[in-house]
Amino acid sequence: MSVRIIIGAQWGDEGKGKIVDMLSDNVSWVARYQGGANAGHTLKIEGRTFVLHLVPSGIFHPHVHCVIGNGTVIDPGALIEEINAIKELGVEVDGRMTVSETAHVILKYHKVLDHARERYKGDQKIGTTGRGIGPAYVHKTARMGIRMMDLLDPEILREKIYTNVDDINAILATLSHAPISDADDILQEALDWGEQLRPYLADAGKMLYTAWKKGENVLLEGAQGSLLDVDHGTYPFVTSSSPTSGGACIGSGLPPTSITHVMGIAKAYCTRVGNGPFPTELFGETGDRIREIGHEFGATTGRPRRCGWIDLVALAYAVRINGINELAITKLDVLDSFDEIKLCTAYKLDGAQTADFPMRLADFDRIEPVYATLPGWQQSTRECTTNEDVPVNMAGFIKFIEGYLEVPVRILSTGPGRNETLVVGDLA
Ligand code: IMP
Repeated sequence: MSVRIIIGAQWGDEGKGKIVDMLSDNVSWVARYQGGANAGHTLKIEGRTFVLHLVPSGIFHPHVHCVIGNGTVIDPGALIEEINAIKELGVEVDGRMTVSETAHVILKYHKVLDHARERYKGDQKIGTTGRGIGPAYVHKTARMGIRMMDLLDPEILREKIYTNVDDINAILATLSHAPISDADDILQEALDWGEQLRPYLADAGKMLYTAWKKGENVLLEGAQGSLLDVDHGTYPFVTSSSPTSGGACIGSGLPPTSITHVMGIAKAYCTRVGNGPFPTELFGETGDRIREIGHEFGATTGRPRRCGWIDLVALAYAVRINGINELAITKLDVLDSFDEIKLCTAYKLDGAQTADFPMRLADFDRIEPVYATLPGWQQSTRECTTNEDVPVNMAGFIKFIEGYLEVPVRILSTGPGRNETLVVGDLA
């Protein structure tokens, strides 16, 4: 029996979708626990590429039941579109997907507010995905949110939407933005979505709890990454949820005592999309080369991702705050042609060397990464599926990471396909 959390150990886009899809062979349940359609989990199956935003990456395994947990924020229109697109591929969704009735709803006014706030901030903007994520979580914690179950109750929904629109219009006025004037249309659309999603709504936490008690295997699929966590990330340049392992319990309803594994997913290098600190960012030719080879453009927004060398200081921090006890290193093949590869092992801050990830935003402006340099393997690793296929220098790179982080690397991923993967040992 295993309840495994899959965590992005960097700033998101680590390739979690592929790993969840792969591990879904051996589980009965896959649940998303935070975030919303700001995520873009790319899967390559039999040569075809799928990008999932809200539906868990286990959906392409017919034996898996998928859950969208209470900790997520759901744009019902986007979810219905995604369900229909999956159904068009001939994949059965009905009867094998549950949406938590207590997950919060994103409506049009959350997206309007997201854009208005970003525009108002100018060059201080976060660089959000514009999907209304932040404003929806603000409403949740301000206790004025709309939950999925409310979509089934016209009276409650009407009252909440009208109150929220009044509140938001007062904010929009201060941001020099036109008011929301179509509350009735928003209400009608939301009621219609509620009817369409009614068959999926249930007490998802109870279902997961029952599955755990019966000894079934569960995957909890994180979105975004540890360094975008609202508590532990590079605040305020973060998302508004908790992608870290603590968030997995809150956002799924499973208790901490159920968790058996915390797998951190990290790319062999580093990327970040949106604004905020990125100590190992590369601005010249090397960064461009990583972006080009790694196709580092956002799956949700298409934005070019910022690229840099792997940052072991940041990863050690992710190991600490998540309790990561196994690692998957992805996109190793992107480094196939590099003659040398750098790994950041410390930061220089005000003349002193530290292995601590800064908590103060201003410190990031002054830190300078300290690198170890390893020789590249300079051969294609796309066919690398057994230990014998691993080039000596790639094995050295992995060993260096394991030594620094004191966590075993259990999965090496050398391409987007399911088969372009090497699993070390038995993943129970
Ligand atoms: P929001 O989640 O749309 O509010 O955006 C906040 C920050 O998180 C921005 O820097 C986004 O680029 C980043 N972000 C949100 N979702 C993802 C993701 O799935 N991958 C990578 N970055 C993300």
